[in-house]
Amino acid sequence: MTPKRKFAKRVDEIDISGIRKIFEAAGPDAVNMGLGQPDFDTPNHIKQAAIDAIIDGFTGYTPNLGIPELRHALCDKFRRDNNFEVAPDDIIITSGASEALHIALLALVEPGDEVLVPDPGFVSYVALSEFAGGKVVGVPLSENFTLTADNVAEHITDRTRVLFINSPSNPTGSVQTRDEIKDLCQLAEDHNITIISDEVYEHFIYSGEHVSPASLYENTVTINATSKTYAMTGWRLGYVAAPHDITEQMVKAHQYVQACANSIAQKAALAAITGPQDCVTDMYESFLRRRDLLMKGLKDIGIKCVEPQGAFYAFPEVENSMDAVQKLLNKGVITAPGEAFGPRGAGHIRLSYATGDEDIKRALDIMGQVL
Ligand SMILES: Cc1ncc(COP(=O)(O)O)c(C=O)c1O
Repeated sequence: MTPKRKFAKRVDEIDISGIRKIFEAAGPDAVNMGLGQPDFDTPNHIKQAAIDAIIDGFTGYTPNLGIPELRHALCDKFRRDNNFEVAPDDIIITSGASEALHIALLALVEPGDEVLVPDPGFVSYVALSEFAGGKVVGVPLSENFTLTADNVAEHITDRTRVLFINSPSNPTGSVQTRDEIKDLCQLAEDHNITIISDEVYEHFIYSGEHVSPASLYENTVTINATSKTYAMTGWRLGYVAAPHDITEQMVKAHQYVQACANSIAQKAALAAITGPQDCVTDMYESFLRRRDLLMKGLKDIGIKCVEPQGAFYAFPEVENSMDAVQKLLNKGVITAPGEAFGPRGAGHIRLSYATGDEDIKRALDIMGQVL
């Protein structure tokens, strides 16, 4: 008999992701609208860079921060795409955006500190804040699913340490306006709060613009990854830029948990960041077409949905999300219940349109019958 083992509360009290549970219950032919990754393969020139790295024997540890040529390339990328300057030594290459989120919270949050997260928002913000001992405070969103300074202000206390911004957003596809970002930065500055800006969907914006808080407010940790932009979720390659005093602390957690990011994936990321970008444009165009297909289909069925402006998710309204997800699953469509992303996500389901056009049409058919 297995002995009854005792586990640390920090993991024992965390539930496994609501989305994962649904995947595990789905049949092999199901239309998967639950997936948080592009349905594209990594472009060949990126794969080739990894193959070359292996053949050349680039298989040892790299510096903790990551290979210098990649960090230099990222300085140029931040200047070009995000309108801020950062030194190569203030960039850490991580195992996906996930590790970057984790080490940022470990560096910034003391037990009992409060972390403001959008509700609904990306699931990891809650679990990772709690790993760090933080207390998560959900902030309700505007009608368009954006974070506003007014809503955030109502939730600030003396213990507030971090504010998460995720534009474009998972799970709603909303994009913050420049004015909203400006106001949030001003509020953070007034209360000496660090912003963690998760920009993994920055290249998938269909209306509006991408504004990096770091271009307006120094006390910002900017997190990104090659995962979504270059269809590289399995390569586990992310990166984070922040002021020096913050990266200096983050790298301590990074070096003991991870040592360095995968050497081969770092070479692949260098090819991705510095190489031709038409692979990103191609994905962008597919996602835009599919978003329009999905929005038109939902409208025809009579399902209300705020038009997503970015990422590859839609967050339509349903009467009862758990019930809707189960009914759709029974008919072979995988979706995610809104409450997996926070209590205020109830009454919605998340649909990922990073799936084929035919699958979207089939899913719409079934939604028409079931919902
Ligand atoms: C908003 C957001 N941030 C971070 C991540 C994690 O990215 P990575 O796979 O690079 O760890 C995801 C993945 O779904 C995400 O949606």
